[in-house]
Amino acid sequence: MATILNFLSAIIFLSFISRGYCQCVVQNVTVNQSQTGSQVQNKPEWKVTISNPCRCTVLDLTLSCTGFQTVEKIDPSVLSKSGDNCLINNGNPIVGLSTFSFNYAWDSSFSLTPVSAQIACS
Ligand SMILES: *[C@@H]1O[C@H](CO)[C@@H](O)[C@H](O)[C@H]1NC(C)=O
Ligand SMILES: *[C@@H]1O[C@H](CO)[C@@H](O)[C@H](O)[C@H]1NC(C)=O
Repeated sequence: MATILNFLSAIIFLSFISRGYCQCVVQNVTVNQSQTGSQVQNKPEWKVTISNPCRCTVLDLTLSCTGFQTVEKIDPSVLSKSGDNCLINNGNPIVGLSTFSFNYAWDSSFSLTPVSAQIACS
């Protein structure tokens, strides 16, 4: 009995360690936007920079993108809108400590915030 309890507490302890080591959540991902200064069909162009500040890889990143529209065509492998959410990079990895960028063009910028992702730490 005691061995089983030791075994269980060891597992719980180890899972705490690995969780503490992999201290990265979807909220760590930041989205910055700025005007490029260019115009597309008389609308300002915006550059979106998604930063993954973690050492871990971010997969299946979905942003909330309610109402998102653009006159500048965006490849669906870069951003694909489905309802109020936009899948980024076709769900492919954004590796640790890197950024992912794309441009769009509309009268105003849209709020883009991370809602979900898979976080893979090695
Ligand atoms: C994003 O914007 C914030 C606030 O404007 C700034 O502090 C941060 O450095 C920017 N990050 C990048 C990667 O440009
Ligand atoms: C991720 O966010 C948590 C909580 O806000 C913070 O403690 C941690 O340092 C962040 N990690 C990175 C790599 O920015």
